[in-house]
Amino acid sequence: MFPIVAHQELVPKVHRLSIEAPLVAQKARPGQFVILIVDEKGERVPFTISGWNIESGTVDFVFIQVGNTTKQLANLRPGDALAHFVGPLGRPAEIDHYGHVVAVVSGYGAAAMVPILRALREKGNRISVIHQAPDRQRLFGESELEAVSDEVFLALGDGGDSMHQTATFMLRKMLDRHRQRAVDRVVCMGSLCLMRIICEMTRPLGIKTMVHLTPLMVDGTGMCGACRLSVRGANRFACVHGPELDGHQIDGWEVLMARRCTYADQSILQQGFQCRGCSQW
Ligand SMILES: Cc1cc2nc3c(=O)[nH]c(=O)nc-3n(C[C@H](O)[C@H](O)[C@H](O)COP(=O)(O)OP(=O)(O)OC[C@H]3O[C@@H](n4cnc5c(N)ncnc54)[C@H](O)[C@@H]3O)c2cc1C
Ligand code: FES
Repeated sequence: MFPIVAHQELVPKVHRLSIEAPLVAQKARPGQFVILIVDEKGERVPFTISGWNIESGTVDFVFIQVGNTTKQLANLRPGDALAHFVGPLGRPAEIDHYGHVVAVVSGYGAAAMVPILRALREKGNRISVIHQAPDRQRLFGESELEAVSDEVFLALGDGGDSMHQTATFMLRKMLDRHRQRAVDRVVCMGSLCLMRIICEMTRPLGIKTMVHLTPLMVDGTGMCGACRLSVRGANRFACVHGPELDGHQIDGWEVLMARRCTYADQSILQQGFQCRGCSQW
């Protein structure tokens, strides 16, 4: 069993859990994820690691409450325990010195991107963050993002369809100044449609853009094929070849989006999520 050592509700329906899992904490790297099962009847559900502490043997993740498992997780308290907690899974994010890195984050990406940005900053990169949330009530993680970046721009939508335009508008402004103040790399963790739009904006300028993909996953180890996608005409699995991938090399965005939408239902749309079928804001 994997005890819960801390539980914090950051904003309504967004929670941070800290789990005692020393072996996972020892090996965790920025950008990796875990798969957990709440109890013996539970489903396998993946979450991106948003922090870890080798000394206390704890691993943190932030989740948005969208369906059954995340509702179960939201009801757990310190002292309760998870039946299974497997990881770290996936390839770590690429970390090197690139120069000026712009990170676009939304939803749980505001927390899960923090270890990646910290590592990028330690390599001497200048970090600009565009932090998108539908409204101020659902904004979280500001201080953590500020601590690992040089500047943070808030993109607060009005909860309407214009939300994504807000983040893309800010990136547009940065890209328009690209010749004076170069953007050397973009990293994005948000809804599928936000990541796709960002890739289309950076493609003509040849700015490498890494996206963090979260297709439906089952085993998380490359065997079931649930998370497959097409990268430059070849079959790849987000769980073992990603979750971070070069967004300009993905040639199956439509398929990815269609598969995600397969399980979209009215319940998630009623909770105020803007992207159909996607649990990201
Ligand atoms: C590698 C990876 C990392 C992830 N990291 C995080 C994280 O750090 N925090 C977080 O909140 N969520 C994360 N997710 C998404 C998370 O796994 C799903 O939100 C969760 O499985 C939903 O389970 P549920 O039983 O509560 O909802 P379900 O009843 O299974 O689904 C409810 C709704 O959520 C949507 N959904 C289901 N699975 C996903 C998915 N993989 N991605 C997006 N939407 C989905 C469904 O379309 C449905 O509309 C990650 C997914 C992957 C693949
Ligand atoms: S989740 Fe099974 S292959 Fe990726």
